[in-house]
Amino acid sequence: MTQKDFSIGIFDSGVGGTSIWKEINQLLPKENTLYLSDSKHAPYGIKSKDEIISLAIKNTEYLLNRNCKIIVVACNTATTNAIAYLRAHYSVPFIGIEPAIKPAALQTKTNKIGILATKGTLNSALFEKTSQELGREIQIKEQIGSGLVALIENGKLDSEEMTRLLQSYLLPMVSDNIDCLVLGCTHYPYLIPQIQKILGKKIHIIDSGQAVAKQTKKVLSEADLLKTTQTKNKSSHQFFINSNKRTLTALLADYEKEKSLIIVETDF
Ligand code: DGL
Repeated sequence: MTQKDFSIGIFDSGVGGTSIWKEINQLLPKENTLYLSDSKHAPYGIKSKDEIISLAIKNTEYLLNRNCKIIVVACNTATTNAIAYLRAHYSVPFIGIEPAIKPAALQTKTNKIGILATKGTLNSALFEKTSQELGREIQIKEQIGSGLVALIENGKLDSEEMTRLLQSYLLPMVSDNIDCLVLGCTHYPYLIPQIQKILGKKIHIIDSGQAVAKQTKKVLSEADLLKTTQTKNKSSHQFFINSNKRTLTALLADYEKEKSLIIVETDF
């Protein structure tokens, strides 16, 4: 086994980062992956920067102890609060995810974009810096998605409570004439059908999943770490979760049929 055969390590505060895992798996099907769902500590978005950094360290070490060649921080909150620390303290390459406000700023015609993200992401210095770079002509309507991550973790994606929360967060943005909505949390792509219903067809939903997969491929290729061969038994995909695996299993149901996924409840 060479370093190329090592896994792509991916972590999130919970099940949402599987939206990123799906993009990575689609672009890099030969790669082995190891996904960490820190659901026991979700949501990260209401925690302090120091708490988020120490959880990111715990997750990173767990993945490094299991031979990961690169780590994808599949969580906007952990990226915006902790990736600078991780990059400064570990030699493995890290890929992060940040709200796609720059692509939205290039697309908008009304010069008004909305962003739905966690408190931890919207309050981070990194997000502040990126939004200031957009210039004054673009107005950003920020909305904290309080409660959404917890409902998704509990599998209540289609609940009345979810609809009520989404309407209360999004309808004011529609009235404000946004034409792009940035999803600044990796859990939210699972809500796209409900969100699009509330926004109508004219408002574009933008998320960063594909960009993260492309960046992962680019960094692996530059480091000559892309897996080029495929073993007979296909690639291996392990998922570790430190709470009940029901929601995680449901979100991966389509993949379980065609790929050999191992989903394990364990403490970390
Ligand atoms: N998926 C995480 C993100 O992208 C959710 C954060 C949370 O647990 O609050 O921000």
